[in-house]
Amino acid sequence: MKGIILAGGTGTRLRPLTQVTNKHLLPVYNKPMIYYPLEALKVCGITNIMIVSGRGHAGHFLDLLGSGKDLGADLSYDIQEEAGGIAQALSVAEDFADGEQIAVILGDNIFSRVEELRAGVEAFEAQAQGAKIFLKSVLDARRFGVAEIAGERMVSIMEKPKQPKSDLAVVGFYLYDKQVFDVIRTLKPSARGELEITDVNNWYVANNIMTYQIIQGDWTDAGTFDSLLRANMLAAGIQS
Ligand code: G1P
Repeated sequence: MKGIILAGGTGTRLRPLTQVTNKHLLPVYNKPMIYYPLEALKVCGITNIMIVSGRGHAGHFLDLLGSGKDLGADLSYDIQEEAGGIAQALSVAEDFADGEQIAVILGDNIFSRVEELRAGVEAFEAQAQGAKIFLKSVLDARRFGVAEIAGERMVSIMEKPKQPKSDLAVVGFYLYDKQVFDVIRTLKPSARGELEITDVNNWYVANNIMTYQIIQGDWTDAGTFDSLLRANMLAAGIQS
């Protein structure tokens, strides 16, 4: 399985921290943010990894991480020309994926128990087709994609619902078969003008080939001042 870290976007909600650098290069406790998703993929046994970033700061990722040799990874890089959403950023990696299963991780997502993800990856590798997402019970579900489940079955996912059907947020770690790139080609931009990863996931839900795993460890993204603070606490092992 190959890994893809999505590290684009403009980080507008973190200005002025992101005025002259990319969000994923900001410090989280004792490392640049991008180290955490990289480590998560490695723990999952995935070392062939592409980093997709935006124009402007791509060279900084290369300066920081190079070939990946020192980190025990084999890194490739590509550019999302304009910020058009997570699914659009992912489409950049089609040639890299080359028909293999892929693990996609958002560059600002931090997990306290990455071993949980590894178990999910191992189970998914045995799956002939489909996708798998990871869910976390949260207090503020309206900020995220939210899953409605009925036993083993996933009913639907809603992106930032005003009235969430559950407290289960879809975290930024996704496993896909090779169909994902065909699915992205069918997407239309959402109200916020982006190709939504939630629309990709709902295609798999509608075709009954979506599985899920609820994670128990702590999880946060880091796209706002408060969540960046939480990410620092989580990385430092401090309970928020
Ligand atoms: C994105 C996804 C959302 C997911 C979240 C996890 O939200 O659209 O479904 O729950 O990442 O970090 P965004 O960060 O684009 O608001």
